[in-house]
Amino acid sequence: MADGTAKRMMQSGQPERIVSGQAFDEDARIELSVRPKRLEEYIGQKRVKENIQIAIDAARSRGEALDHVLLYGPPGLGKTTLAQIIANELNVLIKTSAGPLLERKGDLTAILTSLEKKEVFFLDEIHRLQPAVEEVLYPAMEDFRLDLIIGQGPGARIHPFPLGHFTLIGIVHRLDFYEPADLLIIIHRSAKILNIQMDEGGAEEIAGRCRGTPRIANRLLRRARDFAEVRAAGRITRAVAQEALQMLGVDAHGLDEVDRNLMIALLDKYAGGPVGLGTLAAALSEEEDAIEEMYEPYLMQIGMIDRTPRGRVATARAYEYFGRDLPKRQPRLF
Ligand SMILES: Nc1ncnc2c1ncn2[C@@H]1O[C@H](COP(=O)(O)OP(=O)(O)O)[C@@H](O)[C@H]1O
Ligand SMILES: [Mg+2]
Repeated sequence: MADGTAKRMMQSGQPERIVSGQAFDEDARIELSVRPKRLEEYIGQKRVKENIQIAIDAARSRGEALDHVLLYGPPGLGKTTLAQIIANELNVLIKTSAGPLLERKGDLTAILTSLEKKEVFFLDEIHRLQPAVEEVLYPAMEDFRLDLIIGQGPGARIHPFPLGHFTLIGIVHRLDFYEPADLLIIIHRSAKILNIQMDEGGAEEIAGRCRGTPRIANRLLRRARDFAEVRAAGRITRAVAQEALQMLGVDAHGLDEVDRNLMIALLDKYAGGPVGLGTLAAALSEEEDAIEEMYEPYLMQIGMIDRTPRGRVATARAYEYFGRDLPKRQPRLF
């Protein structure tokens, strides 16, 4: 475990956070076995699931391609899983790409023109698409048509190229953080598949610390198992899970060092805010994007941080959690 971490740090220059929703290599390996393959195995996200079930049933009964499904949300919540489930349920192949991989218009055109009728195309991280590439994508989605430009300069012609009614799973369903009850089901399911012994207390402890994210739940489960095998006869109890996760720097709310540094800077250095994103990022030597996309969503979800027009503020809950006295006068206007 320690070796793997060192290696990853050397490759990226940045340590990977155990509570990151982003997939690591080891996640990719394990996800093959624990990832649900049918819609009925997909836990939680009730509203999204119902909508997708209806769309699948309708497409099936009409023998047509599925309407475009757009899924988005923080990493690790089940977008890729859902895309693959849709392809499985419709019995079609799936082609995958991601926003940052499509550098030029031609990259997207090449994929779109290679799609077979009704094939599912999963485009991940759609918010990272270049504007020039978006221009190609939207007509393709709306009319199943691609405008190919043939020739150059004044002689260039636009040829509409019909696409065989593909289903694009781009990324307008927002996946949200999971409820504790759903996380418990996911954790028990994974433990069973991976042959891990665990009691209810152990599962609850992992559910409480996984930031509402199945990928993190599965990762913490594996780490707790490693610890249990070495120190506790292989069984994950509440005490074993607590000790294992504390050793990894993950606290009872799933916060790690990075989150704590952010909260402590906000509370102590900036008197609870409001402080602008840029200032906070500079104080932590982090990218603004990283704070906005990776750290804040969960801190907001659990009510530690608020975003206001004047900047980020720490909530009363944050003062309490970090053992700071609430300022008598709220640092608001006037
Ligand atoms: N609804 C779910 N039910 C059960 N397991 C899930 C669910 N959503 C995600 N997972 C688990 O979390 C892992 C990561 O999900 P993934 O679809 O790759 O996330 P994303 O694409 O949103 O980053 C999957 O391999 C799967 O094991
Ligand atoms: Mg994914």
